Amino acid sequence: MNNPVHDSLDRPLRDLRISVTDKCNFRCRYCMPAEIFGPDYPFLPKDKVLSFEEIARLAEMFAGLGVTKLRITGGEPLLRKDLPFLIGMLKPIPGITDIALTTNGVLLPKFAGKLKEAGVGRVNVSLDSLHDETFRYMNGNRSGVQAVLDGIEAAAEAGLQVKVNMVVQKGVNDHEIVEMAAFFKARKHILRFIEFMDVGNSNGWRLDDVMTKQEIIQRIHGEMPVEPADPLYKGEVASKFRYKDTGEELGVISSVSDAFCSSCTRARISAEGKLYMCLFASKGYDLRDKLRSDLTDEEIQAYIADIWRGRKDRYSAERRSQTKDLPKVEMSHIGG
Ligand code: GTP
Ligand code: 5AD
Ligand code: SF4
Ligand code: SF4
Repeated sequence: MNNPVHDSLDRPLRDLRISVTDKCNFRCRYCMPAEIFGPDYPFLPKDKVLSFEEIARLAEMFAGLGVTKLRITGGEPLLRKDLPFLIGMLKPIPGITDIALTTNGVLLPKFAGKLKEAGVGRVNVSLDSLHDETFRYMNGNRSGVQAVLDGIEAAAEAGLQVKVNMVVQKGVNDHEIVEMAAFFKARKHILRFIEFMDVGNSNGWRLDDVMTKQEIIQRIHGEMPVEPADPLYKGEVASKFRYKDTGEELGVISSVSDAFCSSCTRARISAEGKLYMCLFASKGYDLRDKLRSDLTDEEIQAYIADIWRGRKDRYSAERRSQTKDLPKVEMSHIGG
């Protein structure tokens, strides 16, 4: 069935972000602070996590509603056993033209080749600093920088398109903006700076800690002149820029200072099979129960289509100082 749906703000459903695990081998302070996600944290037991068959079944239903792009996230998606096998199941789904992965990168030397072979085209690798001291402070002392750089190179060598994500926190790693920009410009990898967001309820977010898109670009422009570049497609998350001398590209993801909700075409599924209409949603819709019932694919698809049609989420566009305290899904449940 091919039946594209639009939400109440006329936004089509185009991208599906699928979290395949709620676990991660990092403890980034802005996402899974170690004090909260400690040894006793109740991660999902195996039977509560969607199986590969269930994920593929859902992906096919979403493709029928207009989704063309799948992004696999976590937690850390490469912790999910046999992930390339899942990719192989998603690849042949009619309508899916883009399969991408968001990862912290340390397992890429092991998996990059297999992911590429199975059908992943692109990976976005998170790296917040080029210095071990800062990086370890930010990731809960789980990894040094070189392991991630090795992952980035392994991905590039395997023929995957690579982008690097740097979450910028004022007073923590903002002094490295220009250094990071120069490093990845020289290596011809696209770097995207991400404004620190008030995701979840555990990362201690304060507006004062946000470096805005304008501040980030000004700093870079002062050292290496840049100019705006055109987006690849309507609804792209990052504002794009290019260096005036080499033409290499960079991006800024400005969810706080310059929201992009009006073109948001993304739905999200958590590892336990809940459907979220927004990164900042407090409520998810249980699809796992539906998948494990007698309902047919058509019936579940109609349920999903109805939810999308009623969607009016635009959290970032409505963000106010007090909204940061609203209950929200944790980032590690839906992978950004
Ligand atoms: P591309 O397909 O390469 O453009 O990927 P992407 O930027 O959409 O995905 P990625 O997982 O690399 O996310 C980069 C950053 O953008 C993360 O901090 C995400 O949380 C954030 N992000 C992605 N989609 C949205 C969104 O719909 N809303 C908000 N507020 N942030 C988003
Ligand atoms: N603000 C901005 N980006 C975040 N990410 C995780 N938590 C936050 C946050 N609070 C990023 C990760 C990764 C992507 C999935 O989301 O660094 O690149
Ligand atoms: Fe793990 Fe990514 Fe969250 Fe860091 S941001 S804790 S790497 S899921
Ligand atoms: Fe989409 Fe919600 Fe992000 Fe706005 S805040 S762009 S509606 S996910």
